[in-house]
Amino acid sequence: MDRYKICVIKGDGIGPEIADEAIKVLDSVSAKFGFGLDYEYFLMGGAAIDVFGVPLPDDTLNAAKASDAVLFGAIGGPKWDNLDPSIRPEKGLLKIRKELEAFANLRPAIIFDELINASTIKPEIIKGVDVLIVRELTGGLYFGEPRAIGKDKAYNTMVYSRSEIERIAKVAFVAAGKRRGKLCVVDKANVLETSRLWREVVDAMAPSYPDVSVEYMYVDNAAMQLIRNPRQFDVILTENLFGDILSDEASMVCGSIGLLPSASVGSKVGIYEPIHGSAPDIAGQGIANPIAMILSAAMMLRYALGQETAAMAIENAVKAVLKDGYRTKDLASFDAKEICTTSEIGTIISDYIKKA
Ligand code: IPM
Ligand code: MG
Repeated sequence: MDRYKICVIKGDGIGPEIADEAIKVLDSVSAKFGFGLDYEYFLMGGAAIDVFGVPLPDDTLNAAKASDAVLFGAIGGPKWDNLDPSIRPEKGLLKIRKELEAFANLRPAIIFDELINASTIKPEIIKGVDVLIVRELTGGLYFGEPRAIGKDKAYNTMVYSRSEIERIAKVAFVAAGKRRGKLCVVDKANVLETSRLWREVVDAMAPSYPDVSVEYMYVDNAAMQLIRNPRQFDVILTENLFGDILSDEASMVCGSIGLLPSASVGSKVGIYEPIHGSAPDIAGQGIANPIAMILSAAMMLRYALGQETAAMAIENAVKAVLKDGYRTKDLASFDAKEICTTSEIGTIISDYIKKA
């Protein structure tokens, strides 16, 4: 029997609650499809600061590097907001992404037909939306040096090298080739030098991918087009900060930020994480939507473990559960038959998998 070592980082806020549901669902697919998952639990973010005084302890990083995949919930919260920026919870996440060279953040935004009324946008605009945002994750303003804050002046630097752009663009070209063959590069080339280098690099690569058409769009226009006509997009390729912002916007097109999973990949070990944050305001109440986390676990099975059938079993169960009207509170007003707690929806999804 194949066995895989999963480094589980539940994190802060709703992280632990949603991670527990993902594990519940993973247990039912691993039993059903005959592979083994060995979970090892480690701290990161605020939870690690409380115990070790740092957001990413060496133990956590080493375990992540030695695992087959990292399953990560969420980090951060008001409790740690006033700490020195160098040890804020978010630093832990940025460091683990960098250390694992997880430079490609894949954020699929798909509309479930069952939730078509959950979006604030009209159903006829969003029906059939299926966008993959490929967000560069280990460069740009998040990591650029120099950076500093002084008393009256602060600055950050957006830096991208040719090789950083090439490796992420390759991921996007390959993904577009397997999808509808449309790549939209989102940038601010009318203002930023980095964007101009992105265009130069992508233009030079395009002839190697004759089945993929390339289009460029300024980020301000892209923010508008995502709301105006989201179906025009297939794969969106963009730098770190633009991707952060546009993926939250895309989640609202889909109805709830509690639905969108992601995979942060690039090197040996990937991180599988929902796109949302730790939602400290609703933590511990059993009302968080675990679906983004559960779908991130499905992405882990697909990309890290090669367990495609098990990944699809999870995705199909999520669709069936939504179709049958089970909803967490965030989706309560949209064709709900029964409002469920975080744990109930996890159990229902895992029961659907067992019965399917
Ligand atoms: C995300 C989050 C993170 C990011 C934060 C928590 C640092 O917003 O994964 O989208 O900005 O990348
Ligand atoms: Mg974000």
